[in-house]
Amino acid sequence: MTYPFDRIVLLHASLSVLCRRWAWGMVGCFFLCSAGYGQDAEQVQGLKLPSLLGPSAGLGRSELRQRWEGHRRQEILQQFEQHVYGKAPHQGFEVTVLNTDWQWVGPYAAKRKTIQAHLAGPMGSLEFKVTLWLPEKSLGPCPVFLGMHLFDSGSLQPVLGQPWKGSSSKGPELASQNPSWLWQQLFVRGFGAATVDADEMDPDQHDGFKNGVHGLFHDANRQTHGDRDWGTLAAWAWGLSRALDVLARDQEVDGERVMVVGHSRMGKAALWAGATDERFAMVFSNNSGCGGAALSRRRHGETVAHINRVFPHWFCSQFHAYGDAEDEIPVDQHQLIALMAPRPVYVASALEDDWADPKGEFLSAYRASEVYSLYDKAGCPGPAQPELNQSVGEGVGYHLRSGRHDLTTFDWMCFLDFAEAQAHRSKRK
Ligand code: GCU
Repeated sequence: MTYPFDRIVLLHASLSVLCRRWAWGMVGCFFLCSAGYGQDAEQVQGLKLPSLLGPSAGLGRSELRQRWEGHRRQEILQQFEQHVYGKAPHQGFEVTVLNTDWQWVGPYAAKRKTIQAHLAGPMGSLEFKVTLWLPEKSLGPCPVFLGMHLFDSGSLQPVLGQPWKGSSSKGPELASQNPSWLWQQLFVRGFGAATVDADEMDPDQHDGFKNGVHGLFHDANRQTHGDRDWGTLAAWAWGLSRALDVLARDQEVDGERVMVVGHSRMGKAALWAGATDERFAMVFSNNSGCGGAALSRRRHGETVAHINRVFPHWFCSQFHAYGDAEDEIPVDQHQLIALMAPRPVYVASALEDDWADPKGEFLSAYRASEVYSLYDKAGCPGPAQPELNQSVGEGVGYHLRSGRHDLTTFDWMCFLDFAEAQAHRSKRK
């Protein structure tokens, strides 16, 4: 059982009422348990989820926080590496900036920089570029949204964080159909944007982990890719960190305010990047679904068995052992969201995106809020899913948008409002 401190105080109060007025006390206890994170940490709407904080009977909030920071966070991170995404190399690489080219882009009153970088690993090297857009009128180093995409980053208006240029539908509400709108919104609010091409880091194909960054570390003497070695999502997440290395060296970028954003498979990569690299100031996941924000144990929409069958290269090989055995995965995705704490994180779902399991995405955000409560942050309210098209939460943001699997202007509007609100909150502290 996990009871954050404020819940313990409330529980205590409820129990004293219980002694005096048995019936009203029972009602109080019922509300306490049903409204907050104070319910049994392992029981969420009939699901048995791995615990976030471990056995916590008798522990106060500061002890739980010490435990989280001391070892529990690290333990969970390692379990994700060992069982889900695979372990990326932490050493043996070097990023060098080769060339920076920039030009003014009139209609947006913005500057576009193309930064060519070189990445060297023990078995080879590759080049990649980061395209950076900065508003013309930036007062000092600029906060930047960074996202990967899977098409030409030379495009004048790449849609950051989106895995493909087209989308499952068409309409002015889609960010990909309306890039000028997105660019204006970002610049007017003082944000920059940066993109990196996922294909340059690791092509989205199953080739036995030889191409892209995997190849730089692939030992020719080793015949097999180990069960716990990194898959493509981990390679993309790692690539986002290398892009952050590049951005952090640019004097016009505020390296402490780089936010990572991604839709769908790029949303999965953005979450893993935020978990593995605490330099990311905020993390935004849009419709990331299975292997992203959605709880695997719900087996709703895309399942672990399906994702491993269709995309055998995305996760580590060990994850394949859990197809149809989700309860045996030592972790679940609410713990991934919690790994961002106390940094702000936002999870976005779409009503008609059943494949990504909007309810499972919401429950992750809601459950992860237990860790945010250790840092005095309200988190994402629950357990009922918020009303349609309403952005909720502090520390952990969430919305359920009407419509399909897409990254829309509504999603971006919520992300930008959340990012601004968080920035103001941290200024007040
Ligand atoms: C497929 C896949 C999803 C993924 C999506 C995408 O639908 O099953 O897991 O999120 O592609 O990236 O577009």
